[in-house]
Amino acid sequence: MVTRQITNVPTRQIAYSVDWYGKICAQKSSMTIDQIRQTYAGDPTREWDRLQSTPLTRTEYLITSHCLERYLPPAGLVLDAGSGPRRYAIDLARRGCSVVMLDLVRELLQLGQLKLAEAGIDGHALSQVEGNIVALPCGDRAFDAVISLGAPLSHLTDAQARFRAIAEMARVVKPGGCVLVTGLARVACYRAFVYWLNRERLEQVGTPQARASGILHGWVTSYAFAPGELAELVHGTGLQVVDQIGCEGIAAYLPMDHLAQVEADPALWPIWRDILLETCNEPTIIGISNHLLVVARKTE
Ligand SMILES: C[S@@+](CC[C@H](N)C(=O)[O-])C[C@H]1O[C@@H](n2cnc3c(N)ncnc32)[C@H](O)[C@@H]1O
Repeated sequence: MVTRQITNVPTRQIAYSVDWYGKICAQKSSMTIDQIRQTYAGDPTREWDRLQSTPLTRTEYLITSHCLERYLPPAGLVLDAGSGPRRYAIDLARRGCSVVMLDLVRELLQLGQLKLAEAGIDGHALSQVEGNIVALPCGDRAFDAVISLGAPLSHLTDAQARFRAIAEMARVVKPGGCVLVTGLARVACYRAFVYWLNRERLEQVGTPQARASGILHGWVTSYAFAPGELAELVHGTGLQVVDQIGCEGIAAYLPMDHLAQVEADPALWPIWRDILLETCNEPTIIGISNHLLVVARKTE
């Protein structure tokens, strides 16, 4: 486990002390962090398979990859914060970036090492760090871009820790560089409970208080963002929000078998793919996508 003293975090962005951070880790986040580690370590392959396993997760991969293509430089050093087993990192390395992968879970990084070898990627382009997005073990302005995809942020159930994580991403990106950060969307989660006919989870958000908390109790406790909230949080760290995207776009919670049929149809798929990419940042649909992606730029 890589640890780091918090010494060079600009105070303009962070109003919290090291004492505060220690208390967060010890009291509020530690149980969740342990839960996360245990959950992901138990089945690392599932996380590697995730982005290819259903038409919906393949849509998440398609739209997210499209945004990486659009907002990341063709080369340069990228931090993948909450990388999992490296699917995006391998794609970025293929297009000429060097990537530092950071994740809490050693087993995921180890699986990524195997996938890297299978993909025949030059290992020099990729390095890995076992660590926590709340305290990045990296220098100020070290990266040309930072990505945090598949909603690692939603694993932080404490509001200050979420702010802290984004502020850390803002700290380590160079001026002019982009931060692409994702979170779970609250409204989409409610739709998911009905889509999967999950009575228990719908009942858990049965009061206005439960819904306002944003906390969801599933395979691991997570936080789902209200519409506009993630963009506000990113803006609050001093970054300039330049785009918002729904990673599943208008595919969110369409019947899986219909999506699969369109995907497999050589005449229909290119049309549907273009529509997905053209509409993924449409304000009326970003909130119903499971994963929200906020693209922000560091201006100074
Ligand atoms: C759903 S996975 C997404 C993985 C990958 N980025 C993707 O999009 O496929 C969430 C990842 O975030 C990692 N994670 C969760 N909380 C974290 C934290 N506080 N610090 C670092 N990684 C974290 C998990 O271990 C897991 O690999």
